[in-house]
Amino acid sequence: MEYEDAEIFFYTLDITDVKSISVFCDFIEEHHKPIDCLVNNAGIGTHIDLWKDKEYPEYIIDTIFKTNYRGHVNLCSYLIPYLSKDAKVINVTSSAGILNLF
Ligand SMILES: NC(=O)c1ccc[n+]([C@@H]2O[C@H](COP(=O)([O-])OP(=O)(O)OC[C@H]3O[C@@H](n4cnc5c(N)ncnc54)[C@H](OP(=O)(O)O)[C@@H]3O)[C@@H](O)[C@H]2O)c1
Repeated sequence: MEYEDAEIFFYTLDITDVKSISVFCDFIEEHHKPIDCLVNNAGIGTHIDLWKDKEYPEYIIDTIFKTNYRGHVNLCSYLIPYLSKDAKVINVTSSAGILNLF
């Protein structure tokens, strides 16, 4: 797809922080309502080998879930009122999600 006249805006937010999401919603309300396409791409990972490292630090699991799961649940729940009727929501994920590690 090409949009010759398209303008691209950037906005920084932290999806683990509902205050940050809320301020982002104010920005959307003012400048970009409605949203036609939401791409949930933000995510973090770890280089620790989940299969070998049995002493997997709990705070790492908490941090990953806070971002990769709860962050997107919160973001989507805040943004639902701003989506257009035919909006597309694309969730970027990992094949690691089907592994039974936790
Ligand atoms: N690369 C892979 O091999 C791989 C494999 C499977 C799945 N994925 C998934 O694909 C997606 C993109 O991965 P990538 O490899 O492109 O990673 P990346 O280069 O590290 O990009 C991830 C992006 O997420 C942003 N982000 C992280 N935490 C955030 C937060 N709390 N709030 C807002 N933004 C946040 C980062 O922003 P900052 O730069 O500002 O921190 C960064 O722009 C992720 O969801 C990842 O889990 C990647």
